[in-house]
Amino acid sequence: MASPVRVSVTVNGVNQTAEVEPRLLLVHFLRDTLGLTGTHVGCDTSNCGACTVHLNGEAVKSCTVLAVQADGSDVTTIEGMGQEGNLHPLQEAFWEHHGLQCGYCTPGMIMAAADLLERNPSPSEQQVREGLAGNLCRCTGYHNIVKAVLSAANAGSGRVEVPAPSREGAEVAEAVSQEIKP
Ligand code: FES
Ligand code: FES
Repeated sequence: MASPVRVSVTVNGVNQTAEVEPRLLLVHFLRDTLGLTGTHVGCDTSNCGACTVHLNGEAVKSCTVLAVQADGSDVTTIEGMGQEGNLHPLQEAFWEHHGLQCGYCTPGMIMAAADLLERNPSPSEQQVREGLAGNLCRCTGYHNIVKAVLSAANAGSGRVEVPAPSREGAEVAEAVSQEIKP
């Protein structure tokens, strides 16, 4: 086994330092080392998008990044999207428009959608579909996911702006952004 390497990554605004194997993927660093299990693993082959996080402000599939490559970087996961117990507007929109069923794809969808809206605050339906093409959902048929993202866009959703919540956060956050236990 190769010697461990020290990595220091700011995750959801908190500096995290750990000794890791050089081969450790960022998704496993987040889930297994830091316990941030909201980032899911659907394929490990860069197809499904369930592992999408933001790396220095851009959506990446964290199963395609080594933890050592993220050394010195800023990472945002689904756990970092809401603020002060309130859901991010995209999480609210997914809830309102039934953009999830089992929820397994949802954290990755929301992270990808947030990056999309950051780059294009007023996307067309086609642009939303193209922007989320790297994220697979086995349940919803995508229609309500697209509606949710368009709704958040129409509401002026940005990456970090969190409007006053429309419902109590805890129960909804549980449904929208937490891991679905195997
Ligand atoms: Fe990373 Fe599927 S687990 S793309
Ligand atoms: Fe089940 Fe998308 S809601 S995979």
